[in-house]
Amino acid sequence: MDAMIELRSVTKRFDDFLAVNEIDLSIRAGEFITLLGPSGCGKTTLLRMISGFETPTSGAVLLDGKDVTRSPPYRRDVNQVFQSYALFPHMTVRENINFGLRMKKVPRAEAAERVRAAVAMVSLEGLEDRKPAQLSGGQRQRVALARAIVCRPKVLLLDEPLSALDAKLRHAMQVELKALQKKLGITFVFVTHDQEEALTMSDRIAVIHEGRIEQLGDATQIYHRPRTTFVANFIGQANILRAAVVSRSGERAQVRLDGGIELLVNAEHLAPGAESALVSIRPEKISLRKERQSAFENCFEAHVEDELFRGATDQLRLRTDSGLALTAIVANESSGHAALHAGDRVFCHLHPDDIAILHED
Ligand SMILES: Nc1ncnc2c1ncn2[C@@H]1O[C@H](COP(=O)(O)OP(=O)(O)OP(=O)(O)O)[C@@H](O)[C@H]1O
Ligand SMILES: [Mg+2]
Repeated sequence: MDAMIELRSVTKRFDDFLAVNEIDLSIRAGEFITLLGPSGCGKTTLLRMISGFETPTSGAVLLDGKDVTRSPPYRRDVNQVFQSYALFPHMTVRENINFGLRMKKVPRAEAAERVRAAVAMVSLEGLEDRKPAQLSGGQRQRVALARAIVCRPKVLLLDEPLSALDAKLRHAMQVELKALQKKLGITFVFVTHDQEEALTMSDRIAVIHEGRIEQLGDATQIYHRPRTTFVANFIGQANILRAAVVSRSGERAQVRLDGGIELLVNAEHLAPGAESALVSIRPEKISLRKERQSAFENCFEAHVEDELFRGATDQLRLRTDSGLALTAIVANESSGHAALHAGDRVFCHLHPDDIAILHED
């Protein structure tokens, strides 16, 4: 097992506030792992314990098999891109990016070439001689990123490195960063609270909530099989409904929603003997048709209460005859079936595997 970073029961207390609560996590060499969670959940604190700027209250941090829990940052082959950029104000862009190479005594010609490539990667050509104060927030953030990448550390910790960029640049940088990470084989620990960014970039995602890892898995597991209400709500949208368990046989169970709608679900995550469960249904998994489709095992009727135009999709609020409210998302103007409007009656279809059973504490 080639763990590059290993966290063993890592805990951080600030006075009596528990910021990180017994986190166990093993990160493989060359892996792109994302820490995803709301503001204040402990992401930065966890990164700072990996880089050595913060010491755990208890637990251990291992890098490449070595216990570094009490080692200072400069003794670790780890670079961190800080949430606050932390550029040297008196140095130019070029000098800032070159700083780590100079410390490592990389030969001048090679350093110049690496700095040039890093500047190109973050699209800062032409700004090399400016000082940080003469840059916008997004440009400063890109300097910080280039400065960390240019050193090619074994481990790169990135604390919301793209948060100040506009959507277009951000998407371009996501692709560039991911490609670079693969090419150089650097282990990335990436912090974001942007769920879409986490889903597109990561090998694995750790969803963090109140100092704990609430779920760890790849993008499809996290998205399609959220384990808890928190994960289901934090990543994408979800209809979360209470259901009574009617019967079960093998891999399938029959459940009844409030209002009497019965659904066939995948019973894999249903606790043995459970009499009820919380289920999560992604809005885009509800297939809406004007006629009943026999290919689906689950079908019920509803009417459209209102519609919201969202660009590529329409968001619809549905109400079943028994009064249950649901949100559905459909591609607008999709060929084959007409657009839906408030007042329309629809048949809602669901595949059993698209109904996730949530874990309740
Ligand atoms: N030095 C400190 N002293 C006291 N409390 C702290 C300290 N540093 C962080 N905290 C608290 O610990 C919690 C976790 O902080 P942290 O900075 O790790 O959150 P985060 O997940 O990075 O949030 P954000 O997304 O807003 O950056 C917060 O409630 C914060 O107020
Ligand atoms: Mg933070």
